Amino acid sequence: MQLTPEEAEMLAGKQGNGKKKAMELLVALGEIYGADRLIPITSAHLSGVSYKTIGEGGIEFLEEMAKDSKVSVPTTLNPMGMDTMRWQEMRITEHFAARQMHIIRLYEKMGVEINCTCTPYLLTNRPRVGDHIAWAESSALSFANSVLGARTNREGGPGALAAAIIGRTPNYGLHLDENRRPTHIVEVDADIMKEEWSLVGHAVGRKLGSCVPFFRGLGNDVNGLKSLAAAMAASGSVAFFMVDKVTPDQPKTLEGLETVRIARKDIEESVQRLTSSTTPDLIAIGCPHLSENEMKQLASFLDGKTKKKDIEVWFCTSKGIYLRCPKERAVLEKFGKVLCDTCMVVAPIEGVHKVTASNSAKACSYLPGLCSQKVFCGSQRELLEMIL
Ligand code: F3S
Repeated sequence: MQLTPEEAEMLAGKQGNGKKKAMELLVALGEIYGADRLIPITSAHLSGVSYKTIGEGGIEFLEEMAKDSKVSVPTTLNPMGMDTMRWQEMRITEHFAARQMHIIRLYEKMGVEINCTCTPYLLTNRPRVGDHIAWAESSALSFANSVLGARTNREGGPGALAAAIIGRTPNYGLHLDENRRPTHIVEVDADIMKEEWSLVGHAVGRKLGSCVPFFRGLGNDVNGLKSLAAAMAASGSVAFFMVDKVTPDQPKTLEGLETVRIARKDIEESVQRLTSSTTPDLIAIGCPHLSENEMKQLASFLDGKTKKKDIEVWFCTSKGIYLRCPKERAVLEKFGKVLCDTCMVVAPIEGVHKVTASNSAKACSYLPGLCSQKVFCGSQRELLEMIL
């Protein structure tokens, strides 16, 4: 890989140990994937925030990096393992809370914006068409590639942090035009509603695996697209998809591509595969994090109703959206907890809950493995009706 004199200097350790380590990581990644050079990025988004997912090993790495390095582009964080104001109500231990706050302080020291969400594009970190970025968090990076027209690979936490420190990323994969072409056409039957796009994503990932699907006749509902992106990334490692008339870089031709149809039976099969119990002790809504519009829809559905069943309910969102929705919060708090900057997957719910219900195919895919949960996969309405 061709390095500029400044990059070579950073690699040699002449600008500190943190930058040296970051350059070593970027060069190693670039060499593995055949990058010709590093390219400048406009933003980064980091995963590896919850103490549950990174543990003491991750803390050691962050301590090392934070000694003498700072991010050089706007950088945001993925959800952490708890709501910083309500961790006791989540039954988080003092030890976990202390280690979690240590992680947050390390990121803060490195100049990272402490807004912990998987939907940074709804707040301050919204890339423009054609921007090269280095984002971890599969749902967010897929949304950024596919809906916003930015360019990022599926970064891991350390790779994204290294890119954030150097302000550059190796030029390969989805940064290049030749890898941003569709591999399949996907047609979604007209009777499938936008509330079900999460299951559409699960079905596409399940059927096609890693691919670049081109969706016809889907529309541009932002909430639906963020759910679709999350689910497809979880079931099929899809980091980039195209939607007719939505994705900024539309394909030049669709000639010769196989067409795959997603019908009602595919949705039903996904629900069946994801469900292992029908008696949740936690209902978790907000994967990916709830948008302002979703908070409003939830509040208008619940307003005037009464909670009749004593099941724990979480509405997960970012601090930014939480602050924008005081009226909606007041309604939702009668039915559950509106939690900020965390989620049902990265919080240590194992040991507290056994069966979690979610309307997110991504959450339902990860809850068994990452949280030892049995899962009920249902629509938002089905979930809410369980408590009414
Ligand atoms: Fe976000 Fe957590 Fe879902 S990080 S996409 S709410 S699993």
